[in-house]
Amino acid sequence: MENQPRDATAAVPAKRRLLVTGASGFLGWHLCRAAQATWRVEGTYHQNTPPLPGVTLHTVDFTDLDALKPWLEELAPDAIIHTAALSQPNRCEQDPHLSYQLNVEATRLLAQFCGSRHLPFAFTSTDQVFDGQAAPYSEDSVPSPISVYGRHKVEAEALVQALHPAAVICRLPLLYGPPSPTAECFLQGFVRTLKAGQPLHLFTDEFRTPAYVEDVAAGLLFALENTAGLLHLGGPDRLSRYDFGLRMAATFGLDQNLILPGKQADVAMPAPRPADVSSNSQRAFGLGYRPRSVLAGLSASAER
Ligand SMILES: NC(=O)c1ccc[n+]([C@@H]2O[C@H](COP(=O)([O-])OP(=O)(O)OC[C@H]3O[C@@H](n4cnc5c(N)ncnc54)[C@H](OP(=O)(O)O)[C@@H]3O)[C@@H](O)[C@H]2O)c1
Repeated sequence: MENQPRDATAAVPAKRRLLVTGASGFLGWHLCRAAQATWRVEGTYHQNTPPLPGVTLHTVDFTDLDALKPWLEELAPDAIIHTAALSQPNRCEQDPHLSYQLNVEATRLLAQFCGSRHLPFAFTSTDQVFDGQAAPYSEDSVPSPISVYGRHKVEAEALVQALHPAAVICRLPLLYGPPSPTAECFLQGFVRTLKAGQPLHLFTDEFRTPAYVEDVAAGLLFALENTAGLLHLGGPDRLSRYDFGLRMAATFGLDQNLILPGKQADVAMPAPRPADVSSNSQRAFGLGYRPRSVLAGLSASAER
């Protein structure tokens, strides 16, 4: 036996296959990149093809449930993190039917698929399941959505809990960080406005606990296999949009005088906006989730 050539790969277990839905999205792209260290990653996109070397990509329309089920059965992933969504509250308010198809029905199908096969499943929900009147919100707080987006996420959460009690439902805060090649967060728009010398009106009466996108990706990957039920993945700092803007301008070397205070009531938008949906994320912190501070996250964003 000793003289026989050894198969160097024989002892290395094959990586399991993780399906990330919404790989072309802001979070999904960062998540695929982070997941590649430990998983063989499969990603879905709909309209935008994301450059993701090493990730197997699939074009999927999550409104076509009849096609989705057989496709999933054939793909047979070992786990799923579901980030595909109609994620803009204003669009959900304007097109509740599409919001329901994407945010509720597609989630139901994925939860059913994973639940019936006992596969790890993580669903990305939102801090917008709360009305913003009683922050900070923990996992024990009772949902009180005020928008179509929030209501549909609450409905999807309930379905996930019923169909797959071992799944994890991560309620995400406002996310920021470097853009993906196919998706941006609000930060890039803010920076463009200031670079153009234009004023930026930001709410002094809207509070969030923002988190750096790569930290949330790491939190999701950990949560997928290590916990179940509701989990808040908020950042460590509670601040207003206005204060966030001031810190962003300072970090990016842009003119802070262009940041002007505004109030939610000054701007009419299709979706009602909760005033303060700051998260209490002590449960996640206790599990080892360590999102960086806003200042550290902005510095990391400015470097990319
Ligand atoms: N970003 C935040 O601040 C934030 C905060 C709280 C919670 N969340 C939640 O986190 C998750 C990810 O958010 P995100 O900001 O990364 O979203 P995003 O950038 O808007 O990306 C949405 C993803 O969904 C895909 N998609 C849209 N319509 C589809 C369809 N008909 N069929 C299949 N795929 C479709 C998009 O594909 P194409 O681009 O290829 O069309 C894209 O990959 C969502 O569940 C969101 O609700 C986000």
